[in-house]
Amino acid sequence: MAVITVLKMGDPRLLLQAEKVKDFGSDALKADIADMVDTMRHFIGVGLAAPQIGISKQIIILEAADNPRYPDAGVIELDILFNPKIIHFSQQKDFAWEGCLSLPGMRGKVERARTITYQAVNQQGQPYTATVQGFHARVIQHEIDHLNGILYPQRLESFNDFGFEDSLPDFQQTLI
Ligand code: NI
Repeated sequence: MAVITVLKMGDPRLLLQAEKVKDFGSDALKADIADMVDTMRHFIGVGLAAPQIGISKQIIILEAADNPRYPDAGVIELDILFNPKIIHFSQQKDFAWEGCLSLPGMRGKVERARTITYQAVNQQGQPYTATVQGFHARVIQHEIDHLNGILYPQRLESFNDFGFEDSLPDFQQTLI
């Protein structure tokens, strides 16, 4: 449908609690999803949350395959989650560099649960539960944070591990 401007950190709309989706199957919801997919692909994201394009609804999308911004991402088929909620976080946690289309050119090292179990609703309005791990689990944790008005800098353990991609030696090493 359209590539939408991604809101950047500082925009108060990124701090809102997003509303639950109820209008499954509606043309308006289909249009929102199409805009999200077009926007994520255009800006080479591996995930996008609806609030990032100014839609305060609980929708996240993810997709990864040969993404130059995340060379270790592996393959994640396009997935669209409505009203997602994490119901279990593993005790094991990992630190890794995260980026966000709302903070272009920046990265921060964030600790996330290695494995999560989440509940969500599919495009037909049916609830389901799934368990994912690794990078996939990280992306979902990051995107669900957006639905609660949280950006990854709020998750940093140290500001020493936060900055511009081209100036962080530790991040640069991950690209070699
Ligand atoms: Ni983000």
